[in-house]
Amino acid sequence: MPAHALPHADLAPLAARFPADFTWGVATSAFQLEGGAREGGKGESVWDRFCRVPGAIADGSTGDVACDHLHRLDEDLGLIASLGVGAYRFSVSWPRVQPHGRGVWNEKGLAFYERLGDGLGARGIQPWLTLNHWDLPQVLQDDGGWAARDTVHRFVDYAQGIQRRLGDRLHAITTHNEPWVVAVLGHEKGIFAPGIRSRAIAAQVQHHLLLSHGLALQALRAAGSRARLGIVLNLSPSEPMTDCAADRVAARLADLHGLRGYLDPLFGRGYPAELLAELGADAPQVEPGDLQAIATPMDYLGVNYYMRHVASAGEPFDPAAQGLPVTDMGWEICPAALTRLLLRLHRDYPVPPLVITENGAAFRDALVDGRVHDADRIDYLRRHIAAAADARDQGVALAGYMVWSLMDNFEWASGYTKRFGIVHVDYATLRRTPKDSAHWLRAFLARHAAQSDAGERTRCAA
Ligand code: FCB
Repeated sequence: MPAHALPHADLAPLAARFPADFTWGVATSAFQLEGGAREGGKGESVWDRFCRVPGAIADGSTGDVACDHLHRLDEDLGLIASLGVGAYRFSVSWPRVQPHGRGVWNEKGLAFYERLGDGLGARGIQPWLTLNHWDLPQVLQDDGGWAARDTVHRFVDYAQGIQRRLGDRLHAITTHNEPWVVAVLGHEKGIFAPGIRSRAIAAQVQHHLLLSHGLALQALRAAGSRARLGIVLNLSPSEPMTDCAADRVAARLADLHGLRGYLDPLFGRGYPAELLAELGADAPQVEPGDLQAIATPMDYLGVNYYMRHVASAGEPFDPAAQGLPVTDMGWEICPAALTRLLLRLHRDYPVPPLVITENGAAFRDALVDGRVHDADRIDYLRRHIAAAADARDQGVALAGYMVWSLMDNFEWASGYTKRFGIVHVDYATLRRTPKDSAHWLRAFLARHAAQSDAGERTRCAA
């Protein structure tokens, strides 16, 4: 379908709700799309190892090839640029640039990210680099991983190395992507790498991730970084399923573990006493000075939003069974909760500018005659962008919005069974095909740019 035949009628009013300097982007992560798992001197990551655990990945797949982005950088840069975005959020594979997690740097790995940074720069696209999108070098895991305090110092060295080599090119640096996922899914539930099941270890991992974030910010600033520095959290606002006391307690607990356990220390309040009491003997070891380091000021806070969390003391909430709209992940589609979340951050914490660093949806897309008609994804994006505008209208300093994801990719424990991309990837041929949602985004951003230019001209003429 030609772009003009898509449902574009409502683009102008939506675009008009965002200022000219609003940052629009698309996001990816290294392990999910690069491939080249054993190439160019790359070391093994915890996800390379976890994919080999029988039954760990839904379709038994690995990240060995993924989208083969490592070999298709130029094509992919062209794709990103064709969308008209102002920013590209990606991550560095730590074991690709420092295969042993310490010491020697891998020239080939660094050169790849240099090409990426330069390619974005040449196209006028801001590079937003994430240091840790979960693929810790396996050798560091063998020494205790994030549960070991030494990993904090290894991470700070790694951050400094990236700053030395790539710093000039970067618009923004994110320390960690979604530390809750690493701590809880990776170390408490064991369904993500490294597959550990211990609440006490998870709590210590959470603390070390936050500590390494704060110390890395200090080290990056000391090294003269001019990039904006921040962290990205996955924030699902918790809402009780019913008004009964038990469900309200469940929502409060989920909020403590999922939101306040991160936001309170990041904004100088330390861990909530109620959380420490609830953790009891599982509470983390915190050394003098740790909490001050964690509260090192940030330039932005990245928010990944997919859904709300509906808490229940009894049977888990099942949105599909309730007749609510869901994505192919079974995640409820609830844009209004994004507005509520942003308003709460604005109201309850002294937050720096907020950026939605991930938002998007998996659907069962079909490639037919070279097209993917993903009207459901367009609807999802349009409604969440409108929900973001609602929060801005109520005073939230929201500076950007990035779509997850540029292209279909390795969706962690779901393997390649879930498609989040606005660009379709045929895994047999690795051919990329922009879906209708990519055409929609391009048209929306063009509309926004045109209106911003017109506004600029009007202001200059006045
Ligand atoms: C987020 C991750 C991202 C992707 C999306 C669907 O939790 O940060 O890598 O898997 O979910």
